[in-house]
Amino acid sequence: MKILVIGSGGREHALAWRLARSPRVTTVLVAPGNGGTARGTTGPSARIRNVSTTDIDALAELATTMGVALTVVGPEAPLAAGIVDVFRSRGLRIFGPTQAAAQLESSKDFAKRFMKRHGIPTAESETFSDAAAAHDYVNRRGAPIVVKADGLAAGKGVMVAQTSAEAHAAIDAMLVDNRMGDAGARVVIEDFLDGEEASFIVMSDGQHVLALASSQDHKRLRDGDAGPNTGGMGAYSPAPIVTPTIHARVLREIILPTVQGMAADGIQYTGFLYAGLMIDAKGSPSTLEFNCRMGDPETQPIMLRLKSDLVDLIEHALDGTLDEVEAEWDRRTALGVVLAAAGYPDVPRRGDPVMALPNDTEDCVVFHAGTQLVDGQLVTSGGRVLTVTALGDSVRAAQRRAYDAVAQVRFAGQQYRTDIGHRAMNRRPPATPRD
Ligand code: AMP
Ligand code: GLY
Repeated sequence: MKILVIGSGGREHALAWRLARSPRVTTVLVAPGNGGTARGTTGPSARIRNVSTTDIDALAELATTMGVALTVVGPEAPLAAGIVDVFRSRGLRIFGPTQAAAQLESSKDFAKRFMKRHGIPTAESETFSDAAAAHDYVNRRGAPIVVKADGLAAGKGVMVAQTSAEAHAAIDAMLVDNRMGDAGARVVIEDFLDGEEASFIVMSDGQHVLALASSQDHKRLRDGDAGPNTGGMGAYSPAPIVTPTIHARVLREIILPTVQGMAADGIQYTGFLYAGLMIDAKGSPSTLEFNCRMGDPETQPIMLRLKSDLVDLIEHALDGTLDEVEAEWDRRTALGVVLAAAGYPDVPRRGDPVMALPNDTEDCVVFHAGTQLVDGQLVTSGGRVLTVTALGDSVRAAQRRAYDAVAQVRFAGQQYRTDIGHRAMNRRPPATPRD
């Protein structure tokens, strides 16, 4: 069968790479893809350039004319724009939440009201469109406090304010100066939560869920979790913080009430569902955010560990029979290091030649994101350029293998963290890893 993956990042390269390994798949098309998918490193694949991920009619036309049997959506923008609704109305099989279901990510106010209504643990919050009322709320609650744009802001809509002054400035930027456009026309202001973050991603068929392996991202640009927030500079799976007890609690207290609560509200949630968690010192999980898609870079290590046929899992999700399957995982740890372009995350430089990429092996794969092929030469074309992802018998072994490969890659101005996996390595005594 022919599969279409929508998106152009490392997440989509990893999804395409895993889907191409299904014996049932003949071709994976990636639209618009990147330099890695164009080079055929996903196996039998092709890149469809010059199509935007939010040009839904063009994508539906493409799926129809190319005889695509199944479409898998990577990023949130097409989901929030209703790609699943349009494909379904045209009789095309597609995996992802509808526009209504994607509101869990596309509106933080929707997500917070939903969580309050269904008793799902999350920080206390209120939503404002009036700046004076928002300032007043910050004055009453004090700092630290977190100010979030309601809508999609490409990872730039959250201000974790250590002081009230920072919170007031963020409110003015969004509600008065309109710096985030419509996305910042309303702000959610919530209490600061302390603890350790983890990413908990499941597949949902609207009723049942299948938990994917746990993972942990590194959001800050520089070693030691310093520097500005980014889309993610590296990730590993499993995340030892997610012990069997915490795993069970997250499913029972957050994931299942979410899928069942959406169904009770008349919105069936089908697709990947990502809960960003804060786990406090006592091991109680709280929901920082929902994403209606897989994470990037979390997908890269997760896909390297997945042994089951991803097409089968997706078909069970589309048929409402996820309770009949289990996912099989490589017992080893997978760890991915992101190499970013000069200038990332503000204004990434493009056009730097990328050289000396190591060949993919069974336990080390280079997933592409901001790359493109220009006259046969691979050059940088975006902020996050590559995720070098490796398997190892321990976090340390996976880390060593990934960094050995990272050391070979050359492009001008490259930035990467040298400490991906530090939390898992510094965990004493080590918790029992659990998927
Ligand atoms: P979000 O997009 O809502 O996940 O926020 C982005 C990042 O901001 C998270 O990954 C956290 O690091 C941080 N953050 C968000 N909400 C909170 C909160 N209530 N308390 C502490 N940190 C937060
Ligand atoms: N790595 C965080 C995200 O995908 O939202």
